[in-house]
This record gives sequence, structure tokens and C-alpha cells, in this order.
Amino acid sequence: MRSNQILTEVKKAQGKRKISITDLYSISQLTEGDVELVFAVAKVIKKAVNAGKKDLGLLRDKTTINFFSEASTRTRVSFELAAKYLGMQAVNVIGGDSSRKKGESWRDTAQTLAALSADFLIVRDSENHLQEKLAKIVKIPVINAGDGVNEHPTQALLEAFTLREKFGKKPLNYLFIGDALHSRVFNSQTQLYKKLGYKLHLAAPAKLFRPAITGVKSTTNLDTALVDMDAIHVIRLQKERVEAGFVKSLGDYERDYCLTEKRLEKMNKGGVVMHAGPVMRDSDISSEVLENPRSLVLPMIRNGLVIRMSLLWLLAQKKK
Ligand code: CP
Repeated sequence: MRSNQILTEVKKAQGKRKISITDLYSISQLTEGDVELVFAVAKVIKKAVNAGKKDLGLLRDKTTINFFSEASTRTRVSFELAAKYLGMQAVNVIGGDSSRKKGESWRDTAQTLAALSADFLIVRDSENHLQEKLAKIVKIPVINAGDGVNEHPTQALLEAFTLREKFGKKPLNYLFIGDALHSRVFNSQTQLYKKLGYKLHLAAPAKLFRPAITGVKSTTNLDTALVDMDAIHVIRLQKERVEAGFVKSLGDYERDYCLTEKRLEKMNKGGVVMHAGPVMRDSDISSEVLENPRSLVLPMIRNGLVIRMSLLWLLAQKKK
């Protein structure tokens, strides 16, 4: 597949449609049409990437800056590769090594990066709603790669795309397991899945429920919650929650909530397992489940690359 052929196919998938946003800081910004558009372009891009293309040449002479103040493997590397596969330059800044450490404000940092001719600013930070504020300060698109316990919108999109590939538009019975209270992925996913008509459930210790998010049926009993589920998302167990008393002990959590093969038998035949990563092997999900063909953990990571490419392409077509 040559670059001009890929461009033709991407434009054909897009048609006359444009994404309605100029920045992405929350799933709530996206219309259902936006989600379908991101998926349609990602599908075409995935075909080219699967055919071995690593330079699609769709966006030349542009630069992304990935500014990550918190640890990341999947999100940071896939945003970097997404930019490079599209033909862009990508610059990575680790927050702790930047002039933020000398006390530079976020406003000045963002304006500095925009002045250096960045075309996109991709940010992960522990401050809730930071990217929404930055989007109002700079004239380049700002993308949220995770803000505190608030949102992680591209993670939700890549997971929904993976489910779309497997189940089509079927409204799924969907179960989260674990720490919803501190999970930004949970917050983004619940908003997206409501748009897609999924029925949402949560199994977790009661202290880790998230009552502020409505439309999720919560229980402490994982074994009953698994029955009739089409998809399960295991939320990472953050071990500091055990120390902070949200969970009685690690041993109790593993006994009551670790997703094992025996537990997997209770969900629907053909049901699948997701995890945003990093996984806590044999604490939140067992090694056997990760090796089970129902696990979509690795395909999700692959889809993260093409979803981020699609998003960058679509935002590049908009004037902010
Ligand atoms: N899913 C996710 O955000 O993983 P990273 O922290 O490795 O980016």
C-alpha cells in the first residue's frame, strides 16, 4: 500500500465528516458521530499498519510534544509512535526533568511549547482538569493523556474500538472489577459506554465504589456479578490503596477480586477480558487469564496506536 493510496483510503473513510472538537480533554466532548469517525479512520489506518507500514506520510511538517509528568509506557510510547507513523516529529518531555521543576507555571510551560512551533500538546499530569485549562490558553490542540483521577479519554476510545471489532454494535453487558473510585479510565469509559448503550456493572470493595458516577450497578460480590457478562474490565489494583485502608489486606483483595480462570467460566461464552495496564499479575488478574484467548490486553495496546493516529489526523483537519 503506497502513501497516496493510504491517503485516498483515509479520506474516503472520512468522507465529508469532520470531528466536532479541537482539543480532547473529556469523553463528554465527543458526539456519537465523532466516535464513529475516529473508529472509521482507525480501521483504515490499522489495515496499513498491519501490512507493515511505519511511515504513512499523512501529516508531514508537524510536531507533537508529549509532556508526561506521571509514569507511562503504553500511552506515551503509542502517542510517540502514532506521530512518527503519520510522518510527524515527536518530542518527549518528562515533567520531572522540565523547568516545571524550577517552578514554571503550567500556563508559561504550555505557551513556551506552543512558541517552539508544536502542533499538538499531549499531556499527562496528576492535576484533575489540567488539559481543559491548557486548551483555553494555547491555540494548538491539547490532548489529555490522563489527568489525576479524572479522565483518560484515548484509553476509553481504544478499548471501545477493540470491543467494536469483536462484537460490532451490540450493546454489551459490561463489568468493571476493582478500584473505580481512583480510576480515570473508569470515568472516561462509563461516559463512552453509556453513549454506546452498554449495561454497566461494578464489583469492588464498597470503599472503592464511585457513587458520583451514575448508571453503574455496584456490588461487592464478584462471583454473582460475573454471570451474563459479555466483557470484563479489570481495573489495576494500586497497592497504596491497601496501605490507605481502602482494602482490608492484599490477601483479602486477591481472594475476593482477582480474576481467575475459574471465575472466567461464569461469564458468557465468547465473553472477553480487558485491562488498561499495567497489570498486577496474580493480584488483580491471574497469569492464566492473561494467557487465555479471551484476554484482549495485547490487542488493545495495538489498537491504542491506531486510535491515536486517527485522532491526530482528525484534529489536524480542524482549525482551532
Ligand atoms: N493504560 C495506560 O495508561 O498505561 P500507561 O500508564 O503505561 O500509559
